[in-house]
Amino acid sequence: MKIASRLVAWQRKHGRHGLPWQHTRDPYRVWLSEIMLQQTQVTAVLDYYQRFLSQFPTVKALAEAPADQVMAQWAGLGYYARARNLHACAKQVMSTWNGKFPPDASGLATLPGIGPSTAAAIAAFCYGERAAILDGNVKRVLARLFAIEGDPTSRPTELQLWSLARDLVPTARACAADPDLMSAYTQGLMDLGATVCTRGRPKCEACPLKKDCLALLQGRCDELPWPRTRKVLPERSTAMLIAHRPGYLLLVQRPTTGIWGGLWSLPECDPALEPIQACERLGLALNTADTLAEFVHVFTHYRLTIRPHLVQIKPDRSAHADRAARLMNGGEWVSLSNLHERGLPAPVRKLLDGLLAAGLLA
Ligand code: ADE
Repeated sequence: MKIASRLVAWQRKHGRHGLPWQHTRDPYRVWLSEIMLQQTQVTAVLDYYQRFLSQFPTVKALAEAPADQVMAQWAGLGYYARARNLHACAKQVMSTWNGKFPPDASGLATLPGIGPSTAAAIAAFCYGERAAILDGNVKRVLARLFAIEGDPTSRPTELQLWSLARDLVPTARACAADPDLMSAYTQGLMDLGATVCTRGRPKCEACPLKKDCLALLQGRCDELPWPRTRKVLPERSTAMLIAHRPGYLLLVQRPTTGIWGGLWSLPECDPALEPIQACERLGLALNTADTLAEFVHVFTHYRLTIRPHLVQIKPDRSAHADRAARLMNGGEWVSLSNLHERGLPAPVRKLLDGLLAAGLLA
């Protein structure tokens, strides 16, 4: 038996059948479920799906609803761009397609929020179109089945997987003989990825494709697919002043918005400046200055190289230093014994803990 036939036989016996968006060919219902199921588990979607449908029973009702009402029904599902696209898509179906969803995958893929895989899934479920899907779960199934190396989200590997996905689709002849074949096949791929060919501990003994699976035959199921390679983040740099006088450290409270919002941190300055110049600009009279080893902190969207300057402020100039702290927005001399009471960003806390332990800050 060919791979597609085995998958279909498995889906009909062991796949999921009771989901509320199955056993319908209504594109509105299928489309809504596919959008909700992007990046979201079936169990989380079930309630939302039913509530959404009772609030907006047709694409016309959804298109005519105020945006606030659509967002309110989506609240809690996450990835809110999906809800905005959903609304835009409903409006476009009304205005451009006369209230009827496009009749094939290529037409569906022109609508907001519908990518090629979602378009193919809707077309396979509703129209029996021989369109290949390739979502995250299916990528994992195919990468294992054909032992495909490379990051499945990289363009070349993705193209290779798309090509395999198209090759696997049941033949036109088989589809002509069985009008529900594409629906069972497409659901089978999704079900296999979600319930058997899972990322960790796949249940290979229960897999209908175990005889064909190159990763299983080569003992490489834990190695394939390759993990996603982290994208290169932009680089930024800053210098931080560890400005101290006996028993005290100068801290500034960060603005409530932006990184480390509202936390207490070290005053920052242009990393190109020498500590002397940096202190002059901040109105601090320094005694000694040392530049410490720089380190990198990784945020979601960039890498920050931090250059710490350890500067000892003249004790006899404390009045002057107080003024400097006041001038600095949110600046305050904090007793070293009370540092742990302030909310400090993790890398700043680590840096200060190291200096305290080494006796360089006292
Ligand atoms: N994930 C995406 N589409 C799905 C579907 N139709 N059934 C179950 N899980 C899915």
